[in-house]
Amino acid sequence: MRSAAWFGASGRAGMIHRSWMRSQGFGPEVFDGRPVIGIAVSASELAPCNVHLDRVAEAVKRGVWQAGGFPLAFPTMATGETLMRPTAMLYRNLMAMEVEELIRANPLDGVVLLSGCDKTTPAMLMGAASVDLPAVMVTGGPMLNGKFRGSDVGSGTHVWKFEEERKAGRMTEEECFFAEGCMARSNGHCMTMGTASTMACLAEALGMQLPGSATWPAVDARRFETAQAAGQRIVAMVEEDLRPAEILTRAAFENAIRVNAAIGGSTNAIVHLLALAGRVGVPLEMSDFDELGRAVPTLVNLMPSGQFLMEDFCYAGGIPVVLSRLAEAGLLHTDVRTVTGEPRETAECWNDEVITTVEAPFQPPGTGTAVLTGNLAPEGAVIKQSAASPELLAHTGPALVFDTAEDYHRIADDPQLPVTSDTVLVIRGAGPKGYPGMPEVANVPVPKKLLDQGITDVVRICDGRMSGTGYGTVVLHVSPESAVGGPLALVRTGDRITLDTPARRLTLHVPDDELAARRAAWTPPESPYRSGYTWLYREHVTQAHLGADFDFLHGTRGSAVPRDSH
Ligand code: FES
Ligand code: MG
Repeated sequence: MRSAAWFGASGRAGMIHRSWMRSQGFGPEVFDGRPVIGIAVSASELAPCNVHLDRVAEAVKRGVWQAGGFPLAFPTMATGETLMRPTAMLYRNLMAMEVEELIRANPLDGVVLLSGCDKTTPAMLMGAASVDLPAVMVTGGPMLNGKFRGSDVGSGTHVWKFEEERKAGRMTEEECFFAEGCMARSNGHCMTMGTASTMACLAEALGMQLPGSATWPAVDARRFETAQAAGQRIVAMVEEDLRPAEILTRAAFENAIRVNAAIGGSTNAIVHLLALAGRVGVPLEMSDFDELGRAVPTLVNLMPSGQFLMEDFCYAGGIPVVLSRLAEAGLLHTDVRTVTGEPRETAECWNDEVITTVEAPFQPPGTGTAVLTGNLAPEGAVIKQSAASPELLAHTGPALVFDTAEDYHRIADDPQLPVTSDTVLVIRGAGPKGYPGMPEVANVPVPKKLLDQGITDVVRICDGRMSGTGYGTVVLHVSPESAVGGPLALVRTGDRITLDTPARRLTLHVPDDELAARRAAWTPPESPYRSGYTWLYREHVTQAHLGADFDFLHGTRGSAVPRDSH
């Protein structure tokens, strides 16, 4: 046991390690060589989606004690999506780094990762993968379905909808204020198939969560039962020496990509899985998402693309059903290891409307997230077809260019804005280095002038991301980004752009020599950051198609016991 280097040490060092632990009231028997299990808890009142994880940790502890381990919970930072500015994504890598270092620096033999909100799940997986000690994830579970005036209301998704209703004069400010309380009515993360639900589902698909663990609502008793089971299981995993590197294989990532397609998951999963693959040295590219996802029908009918919410998905059987249906159709690697150490069991579906069948899917294969390339996105871009308007998926129109999202917001409601339904809104300066942090600003609202004409969607192209709960015909993650001189930086208002999703092309109709001349005249935007974390981030973040991780965090650094502290 790694922990023996601390608690089993003789002399002064061992005394220091044990004595202060005993100040918490632990008896000497906890130092008998039993596995020490860290519980990484990202609870924070600044990250409401994670705030109940303290209680989940108590359930994990019960399980660890039951299995003969010694549980020690520790707080990690929490990248809360709703409050952090300029974007929680700026801090995903910092959180991953913190999780990695905390695990390695402490007397831990295994770790249970408690996450919830969007970035907290990938951050914890990335950090734990780089240490490669036995690890199991327990996500905090979704909120109960939002309910407003008798109808289901989805986190995030209805923010955009209510905003459109208000702009169109169909809802008052007071009604929106009332509705916001109805949307978030329990602990948990967003209960749409946004990024948090997606990443929880993919953690299960990767094999890092216990079966069924992704979907139990945050307040469901079985969330805590599952957490307790995870506590029991991690002790056995330490004894079996079952490490993330054995679970996070290329086959596991291929499974996760297919499950992401089957659940209609968030586009953000692409960035996070690319970053995680980089940690464990699994070769993975943007094109894999298109190629592997294309054969997969969307089975799960959840907002933002569909109708239902996570509670419904849970009661229908959750991820085990999706995995069973994909496996049956030959769309899943079944010879993979997971945290259970056992082959996956076949699960029965309790509601075919929520989890549709491969034969009669919610959406046919090839309609999920597509990866585009072309002279406007040499390293790729992403479009979530299921969230887009079908008639705009193949579209040519004149660009209306904004250097920042703020520039657009300032005049978005101007009745004189030179837009028609043909316009392609280009929003740049929102990439990993440009913003910095690659925020979720790509789905800028449709100009009021168009909304007033009854036009509710317009093609948007951006080097930033979109909330997993968002929708619209939005081309995302354009790489390289404008701030590093990607072609997006060279577009001018009036240039014609073709989005050809069926052909997976994104084309700027400007001759090469003209583009070369514009490039020669282009100067990179000046960075205002000279020191501090944001400076570090800008210096070292990779482009979206590489996962926007830090270049110096790629790979694993192992769990060797560090040198003595005293
Ligand atoms: Fe935290 Fe959606 S804001 S999960
Ligand atoms: Mg989000």
